[in-house]
Amino acid sequence: MEIPRGDVQTQTFFEQVGGEETFRRLVRRFYEGVAGDPLLRPMYPEEDLGPAEERLALFLMQYWGGPRTYSEQRGHPRLRMRHVPFRVDRAAHDAWLRHMRDAVDELGLAPEQERQLWDYLVYAAASMVNTPD
Ligand code: HEM
Repeated sequence: MEIPRGDVQTQTFFEQVGGEETFRRLVRRFYEGVAGDPLLRPMYPEEDLGPAEERLALFLMQYWGGPRTYSEQRGHPRLRMRHVPFRVDRAAHDAWLRHMRDAVDELGLAPEQERQLWDYLVYAAASMVNTPD
């Protein structure tokens, strides 16, 4: 019997949701939200949000089983540590997740994949909070 190739079980989540294009769309939409956000925008040290967009896209692709480019360029993620310079309080957490929610909604993923992605983002955002109210 022929072994089915590209079977859903053998695909990474990265592949299941459409690969790089999907993560690029997610992060582009997210940073459009950040660009217009009076709380979040000033937190980003660079004038140009492009490089930050690139880092987040590469990180998320790697996390979900895509290319390991993030770690090749940036080393071990250590994300909590990388956020220490920024004041991530409840308000920043909520704003970050709100823009992510809009971005996830626009992807139009299948419900199961959408839930998986969203659950991870909620969990990851909570773990990044470093400043009490
Ligand atoms: C909870 C609210 C959050 C806030 C306010 C926040 C804010 C920031 C800021 C200001 C930066 C610096 C921009 C840059 O130079 O790259 C950054 C970097 C980054 N953030 Fe967040 N972040 C949050 C949550 C998250 C979460 C949940 C993730 C992962 C799922 C994440 C992933 C990243 C990555 C990968 C970088 C680039 C790290 C590097 O390689 O230097 N962030 N974040």
